[in-house]
Amino acid sequence: MSIQDFTPGHVEQLTAFFGRLPESDLTFIKEDVTPAALGAWPAAPGQRWVDVDDDGTVNGVAALLRLTSWSNHVAELRLVVDPATRGRGIGRKLAQHAVAHAVRSGLLKVVVEVPAAQERITEMFLDLGFTGEALLRDHFRDLNGQLQDLIMLAYLSEQTFDALSAVGMADMMGDD
Ligand SMILES: CC(C)(COP(=O)(O)OP(=O)(O)OC[C@H]1O[C@@H](n2cnc3c(N)ncnc32)[C@H](O)[C@@H]1OP(=O)(O)O)[C@@H](O)C(=O)NCCC(=O)NCCS
Repeated sequence: MSIQDFTPGHVEQLTAFFGRLPESDLTFIKEDVTPAALGAWPAAPGQRWVDVDDDGTVNGVAALLRLTSWSNHVAELRLVVDPATRGRGIGRKLAQHAVAHAVRSGLLKVVVEVPAAQERITEMFLDLGFTGEALLRDHFRDLNGQLQDLIMLAYLSEQTFDALSAVGMADMMGDD
């Protein structure tokens, strides 16, 4: 398994990946994932990554989408892993990779939205240095049509950098 920058060469396997995802997981991507739309994704390094097996199968995707205008120092992280390969560390690796890239590229803040009921996923982001930012009540409907809360978590890279600098570990932020 390896994390690669998204390129047009991944479109076929990425289309198959999205085809395997249940509707409820597709909502986390918040983008059109038809083959035509994927073909139009920019192949700009540092925006989207795929986790790929040796045979080319895509197991997960992460996107770091920079906000615009007054908030162009902030990016939203979106992350989905194939349900069949969850629990093997792919999600954590993709999230680490995207956050490390965000810090290196000067983004000051990364936000991610997690269903409030998914405590283990929230734990993963807290482990990675995210902190609670907001509770969005009744923010999405689950598969049964029930309204559910979302938690917005934020990674503040300046705070992390300051904290690491204070103990002489700022160089760590260069590692993926
Ligand atoms: C969130 C998600 C990307 C994690 O992917 P993953 O590859 O399973 O993640 P990892 O294997 O790295 O596990 C990360 C943590 O998730 C939790 N986790 C793993 N398997 C789990 C499972 N079957 N059920 C619930 N939580 C689980 C664990 O707390 C784990 O932490 P650990 O590494 O300390 O054990 C994946 O669950 C997913 O695609 N969910 C739907 C989309 C989503 O919620 N995205 C997040 C916000 S955009």
